[in-house]
Amino acid sequence: MQIGIDQLAFYTPKTYLDLVDLAHARHQEPDKYRIGIGQSQQAVIPVTQDAVTLAANAAVKIVNATNRDQIAMVLFGTESGIDNSKSAAVYLQRLLHLPGNIRTIELKQACYGATAGVQFAHDYVRLHPDKQVLVIGADIARYGLNTPGEVTQGGGAVAMTISAEPRLLNLDNETAFKSEDIMDFWRPLYRTEALVDGRFSENVYIDFFKAVWQNYQQQTDRTIADFTAFAFHLPFTKMGLKALRAILPEANEMQQKQLMANFEASRVYNRQVGNLYTGSLYLSLRSLFDNAALKPGQRIGLFSYGSGAEGEFFSGTISDQFDAQASRQWFTDFFDGRQQLTMAQYEQVFSQKLPDHDVLLDLSHDDARFVLSGIKHDQRQYVDRG
Ligand code: HMG
Repeated sequence: MQIGIDQLAFYTPKTYLDLVDLAHARHQEPDKYRIGIGQSQQAVIPVTQDAVTLAANAAVKIVNATNRDQIAMVLFGTESGIDNSKSAAVYLQRLLHLPGNIRTIELKQACYGATAGVQFAHDYVRLHPDKQVLVIGADIARYGLNTPGEVTQGGGAVAMTISAEPRLLNLDNETAFKSEDIMDFWRPLYRTEALVDGRFSENVYIDFFKAVWQNYQQQTDRTIADFTAFAFHLPFTKMGLKALRAILPEANEMQQKQLMANFEASRVYNRQVGNLYTGSLYLSLRSLFDNAALKPGQRIGLFSYGSGAEGEFFSGTISDQFDAQASRQWFTDFFDGRQQLTMAQYEQVFSQKLPDHDVLLDLSHDDARFVLSGIKHDQRQYVDRG
């Protein structure tokens, strides 16, 4: 029996900032952002969207009458939680009209949370092959105006169903992981923006990647020659390029060309959205599925990294039923229909914060199906406009 990713959907709001505008405003060379960081645009998230609504807007595309009753669990990876007690997954259950006899859990380990969900789901479906697990990665990446991290902001959500006989990726059973208490990036409870030791975080990312890649090879006897492509956690797309370059000399010349071409395919979407923390690896995987010429049976390597830190290298093979046509069209239409913000509009949207008292938000600038309409008696009010 094969188990893996059956469906993979994405949502982010239409509003975005062009990073050439950001470069000019911050007195930087545009090429530093476009080439040095590897980002062109970033999603700007309005105050009417939070981790729950982002997730609902992604998940509604893959939860429907045919699989609703099969879903046994919602595993919600996020580091943009809206409550210290209640899980974001239980709000999602209500918004999506999921049945009551399911488990609804929030998972946190920085950008690694959704991968924890995928691995737990994999194990669960092995025991319960007639069930599916809904895995979410939803976040808003914020460092602050005029900070070095600003160019790597973004946000959005991915939603995946993990099932038996999946239509996208059959996950291999072997996986290598590593965890260590490291202060490279963190966000204390009282802050809405992350704190980061930028260069150090890049070094830890690479060190973890090399360690788990080596461990995976020892476990499996597979080498780089067994892989058609790699998908990386992409906090900014140059980061994945640095990781790939760290192992590229292990491949022959022809394979190096193929891996580089497929890396370009894997960063098309992330380059235009920015970091979405837990969802970034899976947006990159979606980008690879949609923009590379993949064939059933080909093996993909995935590297997940969450600061703090946890890293995991795992793999999967392209399903016999693989078809990326509808998704490719959705992304083309989505990017064509986006709304570019000026620097002043971006700074205004970025600076808007939810108050800690009752409020009714202006929804006129948000065309999403699920929105946050305000706060009443310390409870977030969600609206389904579908
Ligand atoms: P910085 O100091 O502004 O940038 O910070 P820089 O001076 O290091 O330059 C960046 C690159 O641009 C360099 O290339 C320059 O040479 C190049 P590199 O040495 O890196 O290859 N450059 C140019 N290239 C072309 N033309 C030019 C030009 N000028 C310069 N004219 C930094 C960059 C990424 C550190 C900063 O943006 C930051 O702190 N970002 C946030 C932290 C981050 O994303 N870390 C990644 C690893 S940790 C992670 O992935 C986890 C995370 O997702 C969180 C989680 O787990 O929850 C972040």
